[in-house]
Amino acid sequence: HKQLTIGLFGFGVVGEGLYKVLQQTPSLSARIKKVCIKDATKQRNAPASLFTTDREELLNDEEINVIVEVINEAEPAFEIVTRALKNGKSVVSASKKMIAEHLPELLEIQKNVSTSFLYEAAACASIPVIRNLEEYYDNDLLHGIKAIVNGSTNFILTKMFEDKLDFQQALLLAQQLGFAESDPSLDVEGYDALNKWTFLLTHAYGIVEHPDKLLFTGIQNIHAMDARVAGEKGQQIKLVAQAQKLHNGKVASFILPQFIQQDDHLSFVKNEYNGVVIESGFADKQFFYGKGAGSFPTASAVLSDLSALRYEYKYEYKKLYHHQPNSLTNDFYLRV
Ligand code: HSE
Repeated sequence: HKQLTIGLFGFGVVGEGLYKVLQQTPSLSARIKKVCIKDATKQRNAPASLFTTDREELLNDEEINVIVEVINEAEPAFEIVTRALKNGKSVVSASKKMIAEHLPELLEIQKNVSTSFLYEAAACASIPVIRNLEEYYDNDLLHGIKAIVNGSTNFILTKMFEDKLDFQQALLLAQQLGFAESDPSLDVEGYDALNKWTFLLTHAYGIVEHPDKLLFTGIQNIHAMDARVAGEKGQQIKLVAQAQKLHNGKVASFILPQFIQQDDHLSFVKNEYNGVVIESGFADKQFFYGKGAGSFPTASAVLSDLSALRYEYKYEYKKLYHHQPNSLTNDFYLRV
């Protein structure tokens, strides 16, 4: 296995989590050589010699063969990722917004470089959802996916409706625990779920669309009254991303708060957990469940990408390149 020498961009919830996780996993033979940060004055729980504010130090270091990019801003992230890939370095990223908004360019770049670009941590954190979707034989057999892909909103809904916290208290808690985006309206209004869903649709169905083209709303209009109505029916309200293969060959996709019945697998998904229910030909139903936000769960996904780099794993985008890709419709579809 090859030795991984890492240049890390970002030392927030995920970056610091990865730093700690790597200290506990020496068998991976992965070492962080340098960390690029934006704010050099911030107190960090790591030796000062590890840090720099000069991105060139990482991008031009020939010993560094992997860039892990877990920064917050999409545009600088895109620049770092493209430069690293074109420079012969593999990249592991958790920048969901960047990936969603630049998917066509990122696909093009991957065709032309031999290094890997992996981003399992960008959706559903600890759940290996991209790898799983990559494995389904083709998109005709993938009848539908229903998923909770945002931990913060699921956490807020759980705390509001089960523990009777008010919205602001629940949100504050989600922020303190490191689940929420630095601008939490991205979670609450559904943008974070939208970004993740954009590239999950690519791995599931070969659909490449700009996030602007997808139907979505968040939980901003959900109130105590809605939960009461749901509760009276023995149901819960959850923010669900759903894709459904239609008879005309198109895929209906939408991200909306939905009533979830007690016997639905997603009803088990509480707090910051995420869940993915896949219905497919032959296999019938599968349910993936795990922590979808937070420092260590997200770092664990980065760790598995790093481990996959040792055997040069790459996404194949099978549904996009080896099967007829499906097309998207925003026709609203719900099985009632
Ligand atoms: N804010 C995100 C969430 C973090 O709550 O799911 C993980 O992507």
